[in-house]
Amino acid sequence: MDSFSTLIRTASHEQHVEAETSTFMSDLLGGRLGVAAYARYTEQLWFVYRALESAAERLASDPVAGPFVRPELFRLAALERDLAHLRGPGWRTGCTALPATEEYAARVRECAEGWTGGYLAHHYTRYLGDLSGGQIIRDRAERTWGFERKGDGVRFYVFEGIANPAAFKRDYRELLDAVDADDLEKQRIVTECRRAFALNTAVFRELGEEFPLSA
Ligand code: HEM
Repeated sequence: MDSFSTLIRTASHEQHVEAETSTFMSDLLGGRLGVAAYARYTEQLWFVYRALESAAERLASDPVAGPFVRPELFRLAALERDLAHLRGPGWRTGCTALPATEEYAARVRECAEGWTGGYLAHHYTRYLGDLSGGQIIRDRAERTWGFERKGDGVRFYVFEGIANPAAFKRDYRELLDAVDADDLEKQRIVTECRRAFALNTAVFRELGEEFPLSA
């Protein structure tokens, strides 16, 4: 049988392509959207990472999720700096979650509270993605909207505490392979990972509706 890290990666491959090629992402990466769309997207991430990271401290001692909870991954402070840059110091006032984002964050909270295997699925889907494709998004954002390289506006994509992302991802996959769960639970985690991708795609869909190119 394939290792768990291979299983979870393979099982979400198709949905990864779907997320990557969603209209909103393609338009964003293609430099066809204004900075307002990028700011709105960043706001949505804030709700998701608040859900992920407000549970982290409590989950640090959990046998399944605990080994994955690493402070160098935390993104909330970086997102807040980016939002202050993008929206100004009063960014919290107008910061609202799209319905799909509400649903996404609610599911993360539900997993964090009742099922740490599910939390792990969400953790993997976000952080490993940010360490990978996130770097492509950062590069594009810097060039499209003129943010300072690795500076305010794109700090979300900069992991100051991770000198070697490739090595970090390798270690993360090793942790996945060593996860304390039986085959049935691993299957459930894979299913939740697919759900996590679907929740992301739904957010992109709503963002795409809010920022249609033809408007
Ligand atoms: C335009 C957007 C995106 C691009 C260009 C992109 C690109 C990439 C690339 C190049 C990798 C491979 C890294 C490697 O082999 O080590 C990767 C991995 C990954 N991406 Fe994305 N991605 C995008 C969007 C997303 C989204 C929306 C998610 C989910 C929220 C996501 C989740 C992941 C995950 C979990 C991995 C790690 C797979 C693994 O090795 O287990 N990506 N991405």
